[in-house]
Amino acid sequence: MDLKNRIVMPPMVTRYGSENGFVTERTRNYYEARARGGAALLIVEATYIHPYGHAFPNQLGISDDGFIPGLGELVQVIHRHDAKAAIQLHHGGRTAKSELTGMPSVAPSPLAIPGGEVPRELTIEEIAQIVTYFARAAIRARKAGFNGVEIHGAHGYLIDQFLSRASNRRQDIYGGDLTNRVRFLIEIIKAVKEAAGRDYPVWCRINGQEYGVEEGTTLKEAQETARMAQEAGINAVHVSAFGPTSPVNLTSPAFRPAVIEDLATEIKKAVSVPVIAVGRISPEAGERILKEGKADLIAIGKTLLADPEFPDKVASGRREDITPCIVCMGCRDDLRSTTIAGIRCSANAALGKEAEYKITPAKRPRKVLVVGGGPAGMEATRVAALRGHRVILYEKEPVLGGQLLTATVSPHKDRIKPLAEYLKTQVKKLGVEINLGTEVTTVLVEQIDPQAVVLATGVTTFTPEIPGLNQAHPVHATDVLANRVAVGNRVVVIGGELVGCETAEFLAQKGKKVTITRRSPEIALGVKPSLRAFSLDRLRQEGVTLLPGITYQQVTPDGLVVTTKEGEKKTIAADNIVLAAGSTSNNKLYQEFEGKVPEVHLIGDCSEPRTIRDAIADGFRIACQL
Ligand SMILES: Cc1cc2nc3c(=O)[nH]c(=O)nc-3n(C[C@H](O)[C@H](O)[C@H](O)COP(=O)(O)OP(=O)(O)OC[C@H]3O[C@@H](n4cnc5c(N)ncnc54)[C@H](O)[C@@H]3O)c2cc1C
Ligand SMILES: Cc1cc2nc3c(=O)[nH]c(=O)nc-3n(C[C@H](O)[C@H](O)[C@H](O)COP(=O)(O)O)c2cc1C
Ligand code: SF4
Repeated sequence: MDLKNRIVMPPMVTRYGSENGFVTERTRNYYEARARGGAALLIVEATYIHPYGHAFPNQLGISDDGFIPGLGELVQVIHRHDAKAAIQLHHGGRTAKSELTGMPSVAPSPLAIPGGEVPRELTIEEIAQIVTYFARAAIRARKAGFNGVEIHGAHGYLIDQFLSRASNRRQDIYGGDLTNRVRFLIEIIKAVKEAAGRDYPVWCRINGQEYGVEEGTTLKEAQETARMAQEAGINAVHVSAFGPTSPVNLTSPAFRPAVIEDLATEIKKAVSVPVIAVGRISPEAGERILKEGKADLIAIGKTLLADPEFPDKVASGRREDITPCIVCMGCRDDLRSTTIAGIRCSANAALGKEAEYKITPAKRPRKVLVVGGGPAGMEATRVAALRGHRVILYEKEPVLGGQLLTATVSPHKDRIKPLAEYLKTQVKKLGVEINLGTEVTTVLVEQIDPQAVVLATGVTTFTPEIPGLNQAHPVHATDVLANRVAVGNRVVVIGGELVGCETAEFLAQKGKKVTITRRSPEIALGVKPSLRAFSLDRLRQEGVTLLPGITYQQVTPDGLVVTTKEGEKKTIAADNIVLAAGSTSNNKLYQEFEGKVPEVHLIGDCSEPRTIRDAIADGFRIACQL
């Protein structure tokens, strides 16, 4: 297979398919944007080879000839942009959902993943049948025009369940030593090669290591698996890592990119076929890995969700124009959601909306005033300016960024900084008139006389009513994070959501004795599911005391008096009380402006306090409507 460069888009389930697994227009638009953006090889997402292996709502299927025409159209849109198309063949095994498959899940052994169903152990006959399903799926892939197939042998799905000792307790020829555990994969490779043709490119994705899983796959075993897979006929190895029971995974902020890069390098020592490396690989790291011969191809995943034009932008030296992935795990959480229709991206509002969210020239370019230089205001400014509007941006602080300035302070949050930098760079590059350190008032608006106003004024922090609180001179969490105030050694944080937890961690790392208090029975309930456990773990490690479910009594000179959920009245000694009790929309200008300007729009947190993703989405949407 000849590729125009060494950038591969790895498989990523989107859930843009129809309910019964067919390619939709949304699927085609999404892949076409990534092909147009310059990636050389697009590996279409994990696609179920049999309905019983169905693991995600709206997952694509290749389990029947009826899927071929739709998949064929998908290949055509990818080929239109001189990119090659492959497809990942997948069976979820014990991760398949019985509500999707209509039958209990199956696996090498009846071992459930935490919180999952106990699967039924596959019989030898069933294993043989599944091998044929993979082979038939590969024939369909070839008929649809795919340039090759990737067999999904990683991430704790069926094949990996056989490979890993942690999930395979079989006593027969498919369990026990590595040769037996690899047998299922080898049979699949041989059957796929046989069915699709020896000349047809076939490779597999495997875990280079299963971190943090007792009896999980070791690097040595992965090297041996890769070697045996090569002997069976694969043309490349895609080296990933982690499984569903690993405490960290590739999308987690705790994941350190270099770790998995080394796994690819070690696997490369065991095989002679090309090796694909993956895992938060930056342009510099990608270039270095290739130059040093550590891997042959570089897979770029989430970054291509955030910016489909990443390859072209890197090639043409427009690095500052790349919309960065902020590793927020939002897309990952959308994967298993039953309420969200497909994955979304915090940094890129157009993900999955490629057809609707095109930036087109405005029919009537207008003078637009954007009030507030947080993510919502900057995104609205960027898109409106690209559309040809004359945009004037006002920010009352001396710098742009809004809450992003404090959202990037606490440990593990520097991952968000590139988004703030990107937005600032873009609005400056577009020649927008930016006015810093000026608070917009009705008088100023009348002077500017805009044709439309976009209000992106964020939030006002909320102060709860607790007797004695005001006399204790509490400080706001954002002021603490921004280093605008200093606090003593004993700190009580009121509020146990994202901001409270981050501030507590930030202070605990400075050696302070911190207690988080909140009325609700759980801490960090509003934090994304995949980040919550990570956040709570770190708070425990830092020795932060968590006191959920309390009733606030009063603040005295000695500290905060509360009644615990067990009914005990106690005083938590504190030098300072830090408020992280939430915020309300700062939308007071809305009423003032109504009737004074032709059009006023509220976006981001000033419409309702939410997240970066909502701020960016609102900014993009409103700028497209202007
Ligand atoms: C500590 C912290 C951590 C966070 N972490 C995350 C996270 O991990 N993930 C996530 O999704 N979200 C996070 N958030 C929330 C996220 O930052 C906000 O949802 C987002 O910034 C909202 O963007 P916005 O543009 O609507 O408002 P803001 O970011 O609040 O920006 C509003 C801007 O308007 C300016 N302004 C207000 N009034 C005027 C005026 N009259 N004239 C001129 N300018 C004015 C303000 O100075 C401000 O710069 C965090 C927030 C905080 C405080
Ligand atoms: C939304 C999402 C869906 C994914 N789906 C798949 C998949 O279908 N098959 C697979 O092997 N890996 C899947 N992955 C893992 C990616 O292929 C990739 O290995 C991972 O995101 C790390 O690469 P990155 O840091 O460049 O994003 C998915 C990741 C994300 C974020
Ligand atoms: S920014 Fe968040 S939602 Fe977007 S690709 Fe990165 S992790 Fe996924």
